[in-house]
Amino acid sequence: MDSANIDTVRPAPDATPELVKADVKALVSLCEPDMVDINALITARMRSEVAVIPALAAHLIAAGGKRLRPLLCVAAARLCGTTNTHHHNFSAAVEFIHTATLLHDDVVDSSQLRRGKVAAHLIWGAPSSVLVGDFLFARAFELMVETGSLRSLDILSKASAIITQGEVLQLMKAFDLTLTQADYIEIISSKTAALFSAASESGAVASGASEEKIRALYSYGMNLGLAFQIQDDILDYQGDAADLGKNAGDDFAEGKSTLPLILAMAATSGSDSAFWERTVGKREQKPGDFQHAQGLMISSGALDAARSVARGYADMARAALSLFDQGAWRQALESLAVYSVERQT
Ligand code: IPE
Ligand code: IPE
Ligand code: MG
Ligand code: MG
Repeated sequence: MDSANIDTVRPAPDATPELVKADVKALVSLCEPDMVDINALITARMRSEVAVIPALAAHLIAAGGKRLRPLLCVAAARLCGTTNTHHHNFSAAVEFIHTATLLHDDVVDSSQLRRGKVAAHLIWGAPSSVLVGDFLFARAFELMVETGSLRSLDILSKASAIITQGEVLQLMKAFDLTLTQADYIEIISSKTAALFSAASESGAVASGASEEKIRALYSYGMNLGLAFQIQDDILDYQGDAADLGKNAGDDFAEGKSTLPLILAMAATSGSDSAFWERTVGKREQKPGDFQHAQGLMISSGALDAARSVARGYADMARAALSLFDQGAWRQALESLAVYSVERQT
């Protein structure tokens, strides 16, 4: 698609946080009737006779979260004019897969705060947290099988394997200052964008959409997921724990070569390069280093540059929707792409 078409879906460049929030509210209220059933399904399928399972799962699930992946699945199915409710099962399944990856991710990243609450592994221990993650993965598969849609099961099971591959790859690359932007994009397309694209693609498949529309929604979800993770990585240097519900600084502490770090390294020299070499390359971090890193991220222009890359993916996400008729659902998905890069939470 050419840039003239991209411009027709570009929002006001000075979109304020309030406007961005208001736009996502439109998506949330359009999806509300579906989300009532999906949330009921999520609550029902969290049940287990082993009390620690629902207790631990509820700790995370009742804390909220943005529910973006189910919203994406619902909006994709509705945009394609679905006449059934298979997308309810897929939406609950993608939220379970997401929740499972968060439980595992917080153990891997030694994170202490999630959705504004103490991370589950600090309350119940890492072994229980990992096992309840496995339980949620298994429940997700039950939900998918019930629809009888082998194609959607194929999409979501492949995505589940890809997410884990992405997390393992990231782990192998921790404290590696030679990581390139292309390596980084490969990692985040696996660990994050694969689930976004599977959510929107399975929503389209569930509605019986044409191959062209299924491809478009896959592409929308993939680009949205990339934009979303880049913004997540920006917020890990400049976000506020009270807004984020998780602590900033975890990526720096874990030596993750995220896009802000890759771009900051490329833009710095001399003593600044030595700083990154010591703190990330040699893993020698001391109090005050994170605040210094935050300063370098701003002065080097790395956060602004990363935001431009994220906006590029958000533009591509919106452009992927061009074959759909204009209307409330398309508008809501376009707004979600803007939100993914302008959000502070
Ligand atoms: C967090 O995802 C994990 C990433 C992919 C960055 P969200 O930011 O969607 O988390 P919740 O569900 O709203 O808590
Ligand atoms: C996303 O990466 C994790 C998964 C997709 C499982 P992050 O490690 O950046 O996510 P947060 O910041 O902990 O939510
Ligand atoms: Mg993490
Ligand atoms: Mg993060």
